[in-house]
Amino acid sequence: MPSALAIGIDLGGTNIKGGLCDAAGRLVAQRAVPTEGEHGPDHVIGRMASMARDLLAAAGGQSVRVLGVGAPGPISHARGVIFRAPNLPQWINIPLRDRLSDALPGLVVVLENDANAAAYGEFVAGAGADVEDMAMLTLGTGVGGGVVVAGRLVRGAFDNAGEIGHMIIEPAGRPCPCGQRGCLERYASANAIAERTAEAIAGGARSTLAARVSSGERITSADVLAAARAGDTLAAQVWDSACRYLALAVVNIQHLYNPQLVVFSGGLIQAGAEHLLVPIQRHFDLLRWKIAPDAPRLALATLGTDAGVIGAAALARETLPG
Ligand code: BGC
Repeated sequence: MPSALAIGIDLGGTNIKGGLCDAAGRLVAQRAVPTEGEHGPDHVIGRMASMARDLLAAAGGQSVRVLGVGAPGPISHARGVIFRAPNLPQWINIPLRDRLSDALPGLVVVLENDANAAAYGEFVAGAGADVEDMAMLTLGTGVGGGVVVAGRLVRGAFDNAGEIGHMIIEPAGRPCPCGQRGCLERYASANAIAERTAEAIAGGARSTLAARVSSGERITSADVLAAARAGDTLAAQVWDSACRYLALAVVNIQHLYNPQLVVFSGGLIQAGAEHLLVPIQRHFDLLRWKIAPDAPRLALATLGTDAGVIGAAALARETLPG
């Protein structure tokens, strides 16, 4: 395996995170800046290039040949293009790989889906380090997914395998900005949990959060969980139904890939095992295919917000000749 350091950058709607990673997936330098996506792609690409230069300088003369970038999809890994980025509305058909290559001569740039990169990061250096087959769901603004089969990331023929957040779990369900209806992301992302609660309150449901919603405050999934824990029936129902939809996704993932492990990551896992894993496991045990004896273990991610950076760097390093 090539031993050189690699740069990983995770492009998010709020922040750009970057790091210099060694061959074992350890971060030896880290950077984070606000994305400032409102200024458009040119501005954001400039910020990514500056971060990469800063990380190159931090390498102190050690060889760095690759930059892996994780970005929300759909993307083309083969062509290095972001087709659409749900949290960066002006990003339509942006050739991010070539734009960064032009700005950073001497670096090979590799584009990956952000959740694929994060799943791979957990696979090489986190919760999945002791398995060969795993799937991961990232639960944040959206729901992302990544799948590793027999030790390899599954990209599919057109690079968008593992878009688990856009699996349809309610035909004729809630509209998604992606154009479909009933996507998992519209029920079980952090944003969806807050939105579904606020919509129910607007529709007349009783809740301890009602006054805050009526005053125009934007509640969060953490507010919903706190209300649920304090005995709010609506909040508890919305939270539990998100866990049930996630369990349904795990059932479907089991049928598709038969992994040993399904990992949950992203902001929502701050709820902790008791409030997230335990209810998902309970629903999974009710819903799952019981005629097969084995089932995947469910776990929380261990790398926190670093998984995307570590995974993007690791995937980029793999493109180098051994
Ligand atoms: C996108 C995915 C992405 C996820 C998390 C989804 O809406 O389709 O590509 O991984 O959000 O950013």
